[in-house]
Amino acid sequence: EAGEHESFMRKEILEQPTTAQAVLRGRLDERFGTAHLGGLDMDARDLRAVRRVKILGCGSAYYVGQMGAALIEELARIPADAEAASEFRYRDPVIEPDTLYVAVSQSGETIDTLLAVQEVRRKGGRCVGLVNVVGSAIARECDGGIYLHAGPEVAVASTKALTNMFLGFALLALQLGRTRDLSIADGKRLVAGLERLPGQIEEVLAGEADLVEVARELAEARSLFFIGRVRGFPVAREGAQKFKEISYRHAEAYQTSELKHGPLALIDPEVPTVALVPRDELTERNIGALHEIDARQGPLVVITHEEVDLGEVRARRIVVPRNEPELDPILLTIPLQLLAYHAAQHLGHDIDKPRNLAKSVTVE
Ligand code: BG6
Repeated sequence: EAGEHESFMRKEILEQPTTAQAVLRGRLDERFGTAHLGGLDMDARDLRAVRRVKILGCGSAYYVGQMGAALIEELARIPADAEAASEFRYRDPVIEPDTLYVAVSQSGETIDTLLAVQEVRRKGGRCVGLVNVVGSAIARECDGGIYLHAGPEVAVASTKALTNMFLGFALLALQLGRTRDLSIADGKRLVAGLERLPGQIEEVLAGEADLVEVARELAEARSLFFIGRVRGFPVAREGAQKFKEISYRHAEAYQTSELKHGPLALIDPEVPTVALVPRDELTERNIGALHEIDARQGPLVVITHEEVDLGEVRARRIVVPRNEPELDPILLTIPLQLLAYHAAQHLGHDIDKPRNLAKSVTVE
């Protein structure tokens, strides 16, 4: 029962401050600035032997996998990337013994992800899981893993499980980093950042009322862009995915840097853009791109930090709290959940069960 909430999706969005605590509980080590992930079943030597990380998932799990790859590269300096599990085995992938494969799945039953895990294991690779449902097929098929402890997720559009996937990747990146060159000072900085996150997610959720009007405006558009750079790009992809899944509007994600290489041709007063502009080393460049959009009268919604001054740019500003730059992507993701939710609500759609989609696709 969604109970007092109009939908499971909203209930699950609002649960995030609590469920985020659950995935962190007992896994953070303040003293040594690291994480302990017993379920991985890898000792320090195994962790140090990892030369590459390949993340496999479908839909939102794939996009959060891209966020996770960025975290692993930044914190552990191990080359990492994510691939759609639905494509992986069809290209007869090379499986390397010193690559750590990571399967990401809320349900643990997605057939494409399960078959990707089997492909890795059949060819002798090590695959660990970031899975929510305990004892699910993917969890059983993996060599070890990190349970997400998000509790049951009912709405097709993943919210609290996705947040915990991100946090699971942060824990993994931290532990991999600390067995390598990540300093204890940086480790402690990230542990403190992770401890602050649930409270900051709560702060973003407290601003929900301010987003309703913006979401309604976006719902009126037939087509929208979601843009971000580097850490922000998978956030844009996830934001576009959620928006299209439940509002049935065409939403496309682009790297902000690629706008001028194509999509700028489509910008006009009818096509809004949701831009991710955190305070980081790319802020000024991002604002440059906003000017390009504004000059073509493209409506803008900017998810940003308090310190960012958009100058002359005409935009609806949505401010989220800052954490450590590596962890900011998840705080930028929360308003996108709310925008998608309120757009779909405004359009009167069945939010928990969008047309043509299933919560987990268990047949090929
Ligand atoms: C899709 C769902 O079919 O499966 C998405 O519609 C979900 O919402 C994806 O992200 C992956 O599911 P899971 O359970 O493997 O995380």
